[in-house]
Amino acid sequence: DLFEEGKVAYKSPSNIALVKYWGKREGQVPANPSISFTLSACATTTKINFKRLDSPNPEFSFEFFFEGNPKPSFIPKIETFFKRIEAYVPFLKDYHFIIESSNSFPHSSGIASSASGMSALALCLVEIERILQPGMDDGFFCKKASFLARLGSGSACRSIEGPLVSWGIHDEIPNSTNLYGVSYDFEVHPVFKNYHDTILLVDKGQKQVSSTVGHDLVKGHPFAEQRFQQAHRNLSSLKPILKSGNLEEFIKIVESEALTLHAIMMTGDPYFVLMKPNTLEIINKIWAFREASGTHVCFTLDAGANVHVLYPEKEKKEVYQFIVNELVAYCENQQYICDRIGLGATRL
Ligand code: PMV
Repeated sequence: DLFEEGKVAYKSPSNIALVKYWGKREGQVPANPSISFTLSACATTTKINFKRLDSPNPEFSFEFFFEGNPKPSFIPKIETFFKRIEAYVPFLKDYHFIIESSNSFPHSSGIASSASGMSALALCLVEIERILQPGMDDGFFCKKASFLARLGSGSACRSIEGPLVSWGIHDEIPNSTNLYGVSYDFEVHPVFKNYHDTILLVDKGQKQVSSTVGHDLVKGHPFAEQRFQQAHRNLSSLKPILKSGNLEEFIKIVESEALTLHAIMMTGDPYFVLMKPNTLEIINKIWAFREASGTHVCFTLDAGANVHVLYPEKEKKEVYQFIVNELVAYCENQQYICDRIGLGATRL
C-alpha cells in the first residue's frame, strides 16, 4: 500500500446486444439475461494518473478530461459511480485521480458511450488495485472489472471480453450470474467470426429517453413478465443457432429482440416512439434486399433511432455495396460507422 503514484490506461469497446437487457431490479441487477457481440471500432480510451493524497479525503478527489478538455457535466456521473463502487474499491478516497477519456466515434453520434466509457473506467480502477495489491489473477481481474462496470451502466459489464458475452442468470449457462458478464463459452460457428456491424446514424441527437427512464418504464409494464420469459427463451434458442450457424434462425431472434425492445417502449406508461421515419425506411430496405439477394443481412436497434446492420464476413462485399447505395442516404449527414465483432478491452 506504499504506492505513491502511477498511471494506467485501457481501451474498451462498445457492444451490441442480440438478446436485449431492458428492465432492472434493485442493485443494478438485470430483470432478464442478455447476450451481446463485443464490438471493436467503437471504443473509449481512458487513462488515469493516480497520486496518493497526504491524508485520506472525505470526498472523492478527481479531475476529468474528455477529449482533452475539462468536462464538468461528467463529474456528477463519475461521483455517482464512485459512490456505488466505493465499498468494493477501498483505495478510492486515498488517491487523487486525473481521468482522461476519449472516444473513437464522433461525440454526438447518438452512439451510447456508456458501455465503452464505464467499462474503460472500471478496468483502469481494477488495474490500479492490481498495482497496489499484486497477485490478482486474470480471471478475477475480468470479473471484478465487469462487476464494477455493471454498477456504472448495466450493459457495460458485457464490454470487458469478447466476442460474445452473456449477463444475467440463465438455466443453460452454468456460470451465468447477475453480477457480471461472462464470456460465452459454448461452441460458436465460424460464420460468426468477423461478423460485421455497420452502424447507421439516423439521429445523432441526444437520446430521447435515457436508459434510466427506459428501465424504469419496464417496472409495472403490463407485458414485463412475458417479456422476461421471452428473453430466457430467446437465449436458449440462440445456443444451437450460434453452434450451427443457421443465419435464418439467427435473424429471426435478433430482429424480433430489437422490435420487442421498441414495442415495450411504445406500450409503456408513458409511451415513447424511439424510431424515426428513416429507421423504418432502412428496416424495409433491409427486408427487401435480403429477399432479393439471398444474403443474410439483418438489423438490430438499441433504445434509439440508429440502426445496427449485421452481416457475415462472406457477404460483406454485396451487403456493403447495398448499404452505401441504398441506406446511407437515410443517415444524418450520410454518417455511418463500420464496426465488427471484437475481442474485448485491451491494456495500453
Ligand atoms: O446499460 P444501460 O442501462 O444503458 O442499458 C442499455 C440497454 C440496451 O442497450 C438498450 C440493450 C442492451 O442489452 O444493451
